Amino acid sequence: MDVRPVSLRFEHHREALGIGSAKPRISWSFDGTEPNWTQASYELEVTRKHTDNGKPETYRVPSPDSVLVPWPSKPLESQEAASVRVRAFSNSNTQTPWSDPVTVEAGLLQQADWTCSLIQSPAPTQSDPGSPHSSVLFRRPFTTSTRSRVSSARLYITSHGVYEVELNGTRVGDHILAPGWTSYKHELAYQTFDITQQVQSGVENVIGVHVGEGWYAGRLGFLGGSCNIWGDILGTIAQLFVKYEDGTTSSIQTDASWTCRTGSAVVRSEIYNGEYYDARIHEPSWSTSGYNTTSHGWHAVDVVDHDTSLLRAPDGPPIRRSQELKPVSAWKSPLGKWIIDFGQNLVGWVRVRTGDTKTPKGYTLRLIHTEVLENNEVATRPLREAKATDTVVFDGEPMEWEPHFTFHGFRYVQVDQFLSTDGKDGTVVESAAADDLIDKIDFTAVVIQSDMERSGWFSCSEPQLNKLHENIVWSMRGNFVGVPTDCPQRDERLGWTGDLQAFASTACYLYDVHGVLKTWLRGLVLEQAARNGQLDEGVPPLFSPNTFPDKPGLSTAIWGDSIVMVPWDMYQFSGDVDILRNQYEGMRDWLDKGVVREGNGAGDNCTAHGSLLWDGVKSTQLGDWLDPAAPPSEPGNGLTDGLLVANAFLVRTTELMAEIATTLDDSAEAKRYSSDALALRRAFGDEYITAKGRVVGDSQTALALSLHFSLLANTEQEEHAVKRLVHLIRSKTRFKIGTGFAGTPVLGHALTKMGQTHIFYRMLLHRRCPSWLYPVTMGATTVWERWDSMLPDGSINPGEMTSFNHYAYGAVAHWMHTVIGGLRPLVPGWKRFAVRPIPGGSVTHATQRYDSPYGRIELAWKLLENSTRLHLRLVVPPSTTATVELPGQADAQEVGCGIHEIEVPYTAPVWPPLPIYAPFTPHDDDEP
Ligand code: BGC
Repeated sequence: MDVRPVSLRFEHHREALGIGSAKPRISWSFDGTEPNWTQASYELEVTRKHTDNGKPETYRVPSPDSVLVPWPSKPLESQEAASVRVRAFSNSNTQTPWSDPVTVEAGLLQQADWTCSLIQSPAPTQSDPGSPHSSVLFRRPFTTSTRSRVSSARLYITSHGVYEVELNGTRVGDHILAPGWTSYKHELAYQTFDITQQVQSGVENVIGVHVGEGWYAGRLGFLGGSCNIWGDILGTIAQLFVKYEDGTTSSIQTDASWTCRTGSAVVRSEIYNGEYYDARIHEPSWSTSGYNTTSHGWHAVDVVDHDTSLLRAPDGPPIRRSQELKPVSAWKSPLGKWIIDFGQNLVGWVRVRTGDTKTPKGYTLRLIHTEVLENNEVATRPLREAKATDTVVFDGEPMEWEPHFTFHGFRYVQVDQFLSTDGKDGTVVESAAADDLIDKIDFTAVVIQSDMERSGWFSCSEPQLNKLHENIVWSMRGNFVGVPTDCPQRDERLGWTGDLQAFASTACYLYDVHGVLKTWLRGLVLEQAARNGQLDEGVPPLFSPNTFPDKPGLSTAIWGDSIVMVPWDMYQFSGDVDILRNQYEGMRDWLDKGVVREGNGAGDNCTAHGSLLWDGVKSTQLGDWLDPAAPPSEPGNGLTDGLLVANAFLVRTTELMAEIATTLDDSAEAKRYSSDALALRRAFGDEYITAKGRVVGDSQTALALSLHFSLLANTEQEEHAVKRLVHLIRSKTRFKIGTGFAGTPVLGHALTKMGQTHIFYRMLLHRRCPSWLYPVTMGATTVWERWDSMLPDGSINPGEMTSFNHYAYGAVAHWMHTVIGGLRPLVPGWKRFAVRPIPGGSVTHATQRYDSPYGRIELAWKLLENSTRLHLRLVVPPSTTATVELPGQADAQEVGCGIHEIEVPYTAPVWPPLPIYAPFTPHDDDEP
């Protein structure tokens, strides 16, 4: 019996300390390949740590479910911990061993548990409302009982701003930029730390909280953005509980007994602009006992009431450091600037360590972070107004520094050296001695990201496709820093909904995104509720009129449709129906009130008009954003009519709503949305599709959307449309890309659905611009915002919106996993899945692993004997079944848990499909 339950988890938490649920649903996966093993029942053992004398309770449940099963015991109380383990039984009553026990601990579940106040600095932290805030230090000594030793201690803490907390001079936890970014006026996440080891028994301890402006009060948004969007005063909220071995307890909370000080060695630290740090004024002992506050400007705090209903335990993992990279090279640029290359476009910062190297007091390093070089100098133009500059002034002692409340998207760093006096830049150090210093100082790139668990891996025989996949993973990592963002470097880094709409299903293959996205989606719905159902292309958690002063915020398709489509994708991967339930009202509001329909303003009794298409005048449409035909300065003005694109999505979203309503047992709504979808499909056909099956606009995107969303009326029309699509691809772009944010994620799937996979292989393997591999040939290490963010001559696209780290076009990895790799769920949550690899192009083998909720799926295929045979090795985890369909095989076969090796004869399609050249066209782009 080699099956065993592993990875016990609660809700979507990998670490279940301080969770927000009293009855967390429990999931476990399985290790093992026992043939056809399926769970028939399970037994959960729950041992409450502090009640019932630690007596285990056991619950035997006859159920095949092992994903999100109900909490079997009585609800957890606030701060209560329980240890849980599970074993499972098969139909033939074979029994697995017990899983390892995992502890779950509830956070503060009741509002009444919060007895502390919000404390703030009474002194202003800004010189004027547009300037950066000084950070604030809050401090509180407390003495633990002398009668008994500390047995456990917990800290519950959050802030207005972002914070770092120290206890007795040592950092608590490893979170970055806590409490993260939420829709602050609706909710504020708090963090729970186990500080048992850090609290000292029987002596004075000191807790210190350092709060920077972060997203809460810092400058956000482009066109100069705005400061203080949620508030202009930095503060913290904290409660610390100590338990002693003799059963007694003590606690401290933020109240009038704390003191604070504005200003620290972190002179300023802004998300976009970076940090200025002056080590000469750093006081390492400020959070230790014995530090004298009287001479350092410490004063009483302001004590303020706050709304405890806003405080929420996080749904997912915090932001953490995830990797470190050493420079791959450093050189002096033509302008005489030192430039370091870390070899990878990443998100995080540079850590500077002087080690034994002696630097003079006042020696200053200024680090300017950029993603690319232009003319062999760092290219700052794409950053727009973000300075992305960290400055560190040394105090003459050996030191190690990394910034506190900022992050950058970069591969290159320009390092300038100064001798600073009085906090100002002084003489530029240009001497050979300075060059020597740069040589000796240790520069390390520190990568940060939301600490999600990796779930999907892919590789194949084409190294450039592997590099593309790797770049997509890096772009995802860089744009999941607290919230899913468009880009991590310039003056945006915002939660653009349309970008995630394009990428969500890909993201679900690569990482477990459920915790992070759950919070973000809730913010989306909460913000939408205040807008009568409307959703412009807004950027949750930020929906501030300050950010877009000239924009009325009219509803926008695709971006707004994310409220339906993103949860749907998440549901397919997790099987968690609560994701749909939580969003349901918001989804309905979007279709019933948000979508601005023909002849009908948003909100006017729209429920009666769910069958009407978008109004092209009263709505703003971004269309097939950034298709290659759109001029650099007009990203929404592409080849395909924006209204057509919006309406194609409207049909699809309405159909999904019918499915969602059915899933949620709301049959009346299911009926209504189905009939709306039918009417919309007809209206779309009348407006955009010819009788034979051409689609108005006649573009890759128009045809691909119509095929993928099944908008054509019958198979004849579909055949006609795909012929046209293939012809356009072969003749107009000759296998290069012609799609933007809307068409790109679906193009490959549309072609595969219609049996034209080899056409898409050729597009995917194309290396000329615009194509997926073009950036790879240009040395890209992430996915670019534009197909030609960098032009073939190495210059940067003249458009003012040019990032080198946008994940939307990385949506092609979904096709790579499902078609090359051949894996996709057949039912939400992966209990049944399809294995249907379709080899093509020059790809002769492919491998993928996917950590499904039931356990790891492994799939590897290779072509043998001169591509005349196909060999598949498949590992199916316990409790699941796979439907295997191999090319050329008439019948699919169902297989259960186990290792399966299957070999079949194989006939490769004719390769390569050829381009069609118009007369006089030079044949110079005939790739591959
Ligand atoms: C962002 C995009 C976003 C778009 C919508 C851009 O500035 O970077 O990715 O979706 O704006 O307006």
